[in-house]
Amino acid sequence: MRTPRNKRNPYIIGRSIDEPELFFGRESLFRFIEDNLSNNQKVILLHGQRRIGKSSVLQQIRKQVNLDNKFVFVLLDFQDKNQWSFHEIIHKLAEEIFERLAISTNYLASIQDLEQDADKFSQLLNPIFQKLGNRNLVLLLDEFDVLNNESNDSGFEDFFRYLRQIVYQEKQLFIIPVVGRRLSDMPKLLKLFKGAPHLGIGLLDRFSTQRLIIKPVRGFLQYNDRAINKIIRLSAGHPYFTQAICYALFAQAREKEKGQILPSDVDRVIDNAIELSEAGLAWFREGLLIPERVVFLAAAVAQEKARQKNQSPPENPLKLL
Ligand SMILES: Nc1ncnc2c1ncn2[C@@H]1O[C@H](COP(=O)(O)OP(=O)(O)O)[C@@H](O)[C@H]1O
Ligand SMILES: [Mg+2]
Repeated sequence: MRTPRNKRNPYIIGRSIDEPELFFGRESLFRFIEDNLSNNQKVILLHGQRRIGKSSVLQQIRKQVNLDNKFVFVLLDFQDKNQWSFHEIIHKLAEEIFERLAISTNYLASIQDLEQDADKFSQLLNPIFQKLGNRNLVLLLDEFDVLNNESNDSGFEDFFRYLRQIVYQEKQLFIIPVVGRRLSDMPKLLKLFKGAPHLGIGLLDRFSTQRLIIKPVRGFLQYNDRAINKIIRLSAGHPYFTQAICYALFAQAREKEKGQILPSDVDRVIDNAIELSEAGLAWFREGLLIPERVVFLAAAVAQEKARQKNQSPPENPLKLL
């Protein structure tokens, strides 16, 4: 029997996914982007909770959106940039575009130049549009809401306004801002790009989750159907939690030199999977109100007590309260 002995764990927990063969689902999202770009929608907003797969989608757009090379995509991540000034942001954006289009950075004005001479901005656009020819430029702006931060009082307002101005002014320029909050929590952004099409990035469908489970280990590790159902019931198709469970299952199978995953194996790795996805779970917990946290805690304590006494989990764990 083939087993995962000596194999590297192929599941990924945490970093965004660049490899097309390890990325699953989201087909309708890519079609949504294709349709809207072809219909000349200059701004498309994407939103979704943390670790649901937003950055991974952006990494894949270039490979999965099919528009006959009429669009060039440039990715910029605003994570850790919430303290940047307007000029620093613009400079970084220009630098990324220059690099992607292979334009010599000799044409790139310095941040100091930009601060001193407002016309330098439009001058930055000249070499970009020259190089583009008749293609369009799409800016993929990850963690865009980071700029809309209480502690940043200057940079982002100017940047938002500038971006809006050039997007509507330059026929060949498109943007796809991605935010990690509900759009209703970002009235300023919505107002700025009023009427822009938007789409939430949510759980993976069943078929894609199934492929995420099976495909990375095809040929050396098999999942029994009931084990697959169990994983999907636990993760609800959340890609990050599915990856964490499968990562733990793979590690266990490799250690025990087993070639098949059964439902009982899934039961055995749950604690480990919870530890592996602690960062993601902590984020969910932080979003709960104190009374909600108390309910979860009561359920956990009641279950643990029952486990210690070798009893089945209590029917009404909230009795403790
Ligand atoms: N389409 C996908 N296919 C497989 N795994 C995914 C997918 N989307 C997200 N993941 C999993 O979720 C994790 C977080 O993805 P990421 O794109 O960084 O999320 P976000 O940017 O929304 O925080 C990845 O490390 C991976 O484990
Ligand atoms: Mg991200």
